[in-house]
Amino acid sequence: EKVMKNTITGYTGLYGVVANPIKHSFSPMMHNTAFQTLGINDVYLAFEVTKDQLDDYITSVKTLPIKGYNISMPYKQDMMKYMDELTTQAKLAKSINTVKNENGKLIGHITDGEGFVMACRDKGWGIAKHKIVVLGAGGAASAIIISLALAGAKEIVVYNRSDKPFIKELNEKLDCPITLKKIDQESIKEDLKDTYLLVNTTSVGMAPHPEGCIIESADMLPDGLKVADIIYNPKETKLLSYARQKGLDYMNGERMIVYQGACSFKFWTGKDMPIHEVKVALGMEES
Ligand code: ATR
Repeated sequence: EKVMKNTITGYTGLYGVVANPIKHSFSPMMHNTAFQTLGINDVYLAFEVTKDQLDDYITSVKTLPIKGYNISMPYKQDMMKYMDELTTQAKLAKSINTVKNENGKLIGHITDGEGFVMACRDKGWGIAKHKIVVLGAGGAASAIIISLALAGAKEIVVYNRSDKPFIKELNEKLDCPITLKKIDQESIKEDLKDTYLLVNTTSVGMAPHPEGCIIESADMLPDGLKVADIIYNPKETKLLSYARQKGLDYMNGERMIVYQGACSFKFWTGKDMPIHEVKVALGMEES
């Protein structure tokens, strides 16, 4: 009997994303497109779960054919205590966004930072041996800093408005000098002079306040600088409009979303996500 591609059968495996709220997520569309494109007999759903349902959720994972799942806000830390094993990145970040269920053994991993580094690679930007300036020191920044350091960055300078002790901890654990400085326009301008890549990880400039920008003027961005903003709404933040005005190479947060998904997909299936098909499905690229 011929089994048609995309037909749900008794062998279909289940993946999903746990968060609250989550129905707006890009992840089901991404992973289902990848499964369908590669002819993998699995499906991916959104699991909207409250905090007091997390124990029951884990019971479901171990009972039902759930092969893996993503975790989004607000459970990236709460989920850690259920893990039997953590990857190096997850241990360093103290946060997980991906779980693999290996016959009841749960392995926690984080792909946000690796997704960012892969997005850079997709742009043709190498990380190794380069100085990088990161704006912000929150959860996303933490994962990105770890992956930049593991990718061989020469030096990472982090600017944040408030103190963040974990930066010092990362500096001690990783083989890359990581320093934290307080946001100051003159200091940022000076640092950018010999910087390869500037990354904004703060929420400043995100909808509904797209007028915000940590960098106060386009003049602070020197020639040759590469600029990334992990914000994807709006598609062009004020920071990226400065980069465009100065003729610099830049990217928004859409690539990182796709590649963090691609890293989860690889972690689960061992296969490369079909990036083009996924971008088309998400309306990020023309077919
Ligand atoms: P995420 O998970 O998206 O990284 P987060 O952990 O809440 O979110 O981090 C948000 C980041 O944006 C932090 O670095 C935050 O600075 P603080 O650590 O000082 O809070 C930064 N941020 C948010 N609003 C900001 C603002 N108005 N000015 C400067 N930094 C801001």
